[in-house]
Amino acid sequence: MPPFILAPSILSADFTRLGAEIAAAEQAGADWIHLDVMDGHFVPNMTIGPLVVEACRRATHLPLDVHLMIEQPERYLEAFARAGADRLTVHVETCPHLHRVLQQVRDLGVKPGVTLNPGTPAILLKEILPLVDLVLVMTVNPGFGAQPFLPETLTKITEIRGMLTTSNSPAWLQVDGGVAENTLPLMVAAGANAFVAGNAVFKHPQGVKEGVRVLKNVLAEL
Ligand code: DX5
Ligand code: ZN
Repeated sequence: MPPFILAPSILSADFTRLGAEIAAAEQAGADWIHLDVMDGHFVPNMTIGPLVVEACRRATHLPLDVHLMIEQPERYLEAFARAGADRLTVHVETCPHLHRVLQQVRDLGVKPGVTLNPGTPAILLKEILPLVDLVLVMTVNPGFGAQPFLPETLTKITEIRGMLTTSNSPAWLQVDGGVAENTLPLMVAAGANAFVAGNAVFKHPQGVKEGVRVLKNVLAEL
């Protein structure tokens, strides 16, 4: 595994040519493809379901990193696993039975991840850290691409890096929202090692490949 993971988020891709957009990101060196599933309840936006995840599965060999911004995610874990998700990340805020849900993800043969909104404290992760392969710190309020990075989330990234170190956890520490050339170094310094980027990749003025190349270069030089 590389020291840093770049996961372009297709939320900002051109959905009329999704396969080509994903292929361009893969050719340019993306590590995972990030898919944002939104239900119009937990977040004020609606996006894609298992059908599109399955189409993406046929468009790339890269791991599919599926971020579930949906209420009662346990109802759909199996459908997303069948569609080809390699990782399923659920929000703490949507899971009163978080421990059970994470075990269900692992039982499906998928890598479990857990995520926190900007307003949710790190301490809620304490009991479930041994169960996850990835912790995602939302660095914007979830729901939309192209929002400005919230710098107040940096202290939480550092706090969670400390928790992972203390518990000897190899889990990825991922950030999502406002990842760009200028914010990446701050996130790395805080302790993150996996990066979701929508706008900075798929809306790069010189195209998707250049968007990936710029961010990979920043990571390579740190
Ligand atoms: C936001 C989504 C993100 C989004 C990030 O709710 O979870 O994955 O695509 O978009 P950017 O990189 O444009 O902030
Ligand atoms: Zn996301």
